[in-house]
Amino acid sequence: MTVQYKVLKPHDVQAAQSHQEFALDVLLGLSKSPKALSCKYFYDAEGNGLFQKIMELPEYYLTECEFEIFRDHRAGIAELIGSSRFNLVELGAGDGQKTRVLIEHFLGVGLVFRYVPIDICEEAVEELLQALEHYFPALQIEGLVSEYFVGLKWLSNQVRDRNVVLFLGSNIGNFSHSEARVFLYSLWNALNDGDCVLIGFDLKKDIRKLTMAYNDSQGITAEFNLNLLRRINRELGGNFDLDQFKYYSAYNVYSGAMESFLISLKQQTVCIDMLNQSFSFDPWEPIHTESSHKYLTSDIIELAEETGYEITEQYYDSRRYFVDSLWQVRKSKAT
Ligand SMILES: C[S@@+](CC[C@H](N)C(=O)[O-])C[C@H]1O[C@@H](n2cnc3c(N)ncnc32)[C@H](O)[C@@H]1O
Repeated sequence: MTVQYKVLKPHDVQAAQSHQEFALDVLLGLSKSPKALSCKYFYDAEGNGLFQKIMELPEYYLTECEFEIFRDHRAGIAELIGSSRFNLVELGAGDGQKTRVLIEHFLGVGLVFRYVPIDICEEAVEELLQALEHYFPALQIEGLVSEYFVGLKWLSNQVRDRNVVLFLGSNIGNFSHSEARVFLYSLWNALNDGDCVLIGFDLKKDIRKLTMAYNDSQGITAEFNLNLLRRINRELGGNFDLDQFKYYSAYNVYSGAMESFLISLKQQTVCIDMLNQSFSFDPWEPIHTESSHKYLTSDIIELAEETGYEITEQYYDSRRYFVDSLWQVRKSKAT
């Protein structure tokens, strides 16, 4: 058996640290004005399960678009990646369902690679490794439970194999444009000249289509957001009353992002035992939970140029809702 499951630090130390980071981020986020919680904390075991349900929703077009792109263009992607041995590193891999389309094809055409999924959610990594072991028993895998940047640091200390990095499913959309620049530049720093990066960008489109994707009729996206408060109750001893917060998501035409919030329905005070702190909410006061930025092709070209990459190919779905953009690291082009 070739599947390995790796954490970057001794497990108990890592768990205690991430628990403390969660507590600190909640303290900072609920103390500032306007209040905010980071979307990276959506993904505990329950949140991960809810996100898998979101990906199956008819309104959530992103998953189907990326499946279509990979089915239609896997051969072209494999050709452009090239045949010498590489690490296939996936940042925020989630359940890796779409990646399986690529892995199957890469193995089929005889590419030699090690798959390295990196995800902050331990349950996601465990489930992904089990599924891959089942589907591809001969695949060499090393899964990492870690934050993107910790994973990148690990990556840059690795033996200098060629790297192909996947950053799929609009994960990049959770960064503002300036954060995306910093992120991509850090990635560039961790990589070598000629390494490849395949990034999923959700494109700007009819605002009704965008709005429906984040306001599904079954209320699963609302549950996914509310689970963040449930997680605070569970892990930090909070007493959020989930019936007193309502999910709201709308497109901001100026930032070009779907912006999601949990809105307090009344004047209320919430205590969080582990922080030894209470937080008061005005009626209709929002907690910002997520921004999902949408792109124009011109934004993507600019972003690649600014951060030291050369665009090799842009793969669109048939409706041009989504693009997977294949870039190559150019060390001589650094800005
Ligand atoms: C929206 S899901 C997308 C999953 C997958 N990329 C896809 O396209 O289906 C985001 C994934 O990224 C992970 N994630 C979010 N923020 C992260 C961070 N800062 N570091 C590492 N993983 C993160 C989550 O745990 C989750 O599995």
